[in-house]
Amino acid sequence: MSEKIKNTTCFIRSRLNILPRRYFTDSSEGTAENGGRPAPEVGIVLGSGLGALAEMIDVISTLDYSEIPDFPTSTVAGHRGRFIYGRLGGKYVIAMEGRVHYYEGYPIDEVVLPVRAMCCLGIDTLIVSNAAGGLCPLFEAGDVMVIRDHINLIPNPLVGPNPEELGVRFPDMGEAYDRKLITLAHEVARAQGIVLREGVYVGSSGPSFETPAEVRYFRRIGGDAIGMSTTPEVIVARHQRVRVLGFSLITNVLSGVPARLCGGAELTHEEVIEAGKRAMPGLCALVREIITRL
Ligand code: HPA
Repeated sequence: MSEKIKNTTCFIRSRLNILPRRYFTDSSEGTAENGGRPAPEVGIVLGSGLGALAEMIDVISTLDYSEIPDFPTSTVAGHRGRFIYGRLGGKYVIAMEGRVHYYEGYPIDEVVLPVRAMCCLGIDTLIVSNAAGGLCPLFEAGDVMVIRDHINLIPNPLVGPNPEELGVRFPDMGEAYDRKLITLAHEVARAQGIVLREGVYVGSSGPSFETPAEVRYFRRIGGDAIGMSTTPEVIVARHQRVRVLGFSLITNVLSGVPARLCGGAELTHEEVIEAGKRAMPGLCALVREIITRL
């Protein structure tokens, strides 16, 4: 796998014409003299319905996932598949417009390959976003939650031989989400008049939504929001000692009561995408200002 991470990183780097930084810097391609561009400082994963942030990036170059050899491409509606390299908030950034999920059937090390590659391109900070169902009874559809911590119920992407050159065998997860960045997120949200919730994200494999009993269970074990992505990506980023900031967009609330008993309707993927679109502008403005202040 390590070889695949290296090959993928070098391919992306040469196609986006980015200078090597920190990892795999022995390659001959890319020097400032032959026009190579600075390595990105910030990586961004644009989750369901958060595509609008991509429109705020001053694009320098893009690369479709389908052009990268043996690279996973998403099968889910609402997920595009490409890297965008450019400037946002005065920083060089690389964004994943679309991600793949474990429920699509990819092995977990392929699910995290795009984030692995961004970390190997030299990012210091990873900003992840997702659509999630609200478990905390105080949350409403349209809320934005900064992730304080997570519970990973998707297979751990570090299982298997450890790529020693990337990180240690047993990485600490005591502060998977950077406390200083969370504080910054609250400061910016306050200044922008955005209500920012904070809580624990549960990463579940999906693709079925939760039963009422599961909703009650996930609440009891400490979850505030639940979704089908993010946690494996955060684990590999922390393995590579990249600091992480995460946001969940609460697209629907989970009551823990069967819909039939509380007059609720069936939950659909379309509803999740629509709610994501409505709450998008606030989150995009928030993330841009946070990047400016990094
Ligand atoms: N459950 C799991 N994942 C989700 C949900 C949900 O209710 N909403 C958006 N992603």
